[in-house]
Amino acid sequence: MKISLNVNGSPRELDSAPLVRLLDALRGPLGLTGTKEGCGEGECGSCTVLLDGDPVNACLVPIGQCEGREITTVEGLGKASHLSPLQRCFIDEGGAQCGICTPGMLIAAEALLRQRPDPDEPAIREALAGNLCRCTGYQRIVESVLSAAALRREGAAQ
Ligand code: FES
Ligand code: FES
Repeated sequence: MKISLNVNGSPRELDSAPLVRLLDALRGPLGLTGTKEGCGEGECGSCTVLLDGDPVNACLVPIGQCEGREITTVEGLGKASHLSPLQRCFIDEGGAQCGICTPGMLIAAEALLRQRPDPDEPAIREALAGNLCRCTGYQRIVESVLSAAALRREGAAQ
């Protein structure tokens, strides 16, 4: 079937069987390999993307359910030459190590900061509870999000 959707602000079309996973459509025909596969079973959060602004596990969403909808992947947050404050803070605070979990963490954190610009540490931990990381022990990730929240508030105040 033909599927039209909006990905990172651009209209995209693809021809796909409806049960193909959104994760595979993104990484395959849509050419966006930033979204990572960990468990493939909805447990690890590494495939998290925004679907109409809400974080979802792309390994559990059939592409057939994405007709006319808006997807945001990690590529939509910033560019290598122009990282978002959130991406910059993950680098500066050591929130990213091997990086497998990082795209999903960034997307989950982005969803949180859009809803709650000044989250405390428990709120960040709760928002990231579905995103597993084997490398950083979470503290640096939480500190990255706290720093990014402060930077975003500063930016918004200017
Ligand atoms: Fe989707 Fe783990 S790969 S939740
Ligand atoms: Fe390696 Fe999180 S940075 S799994």
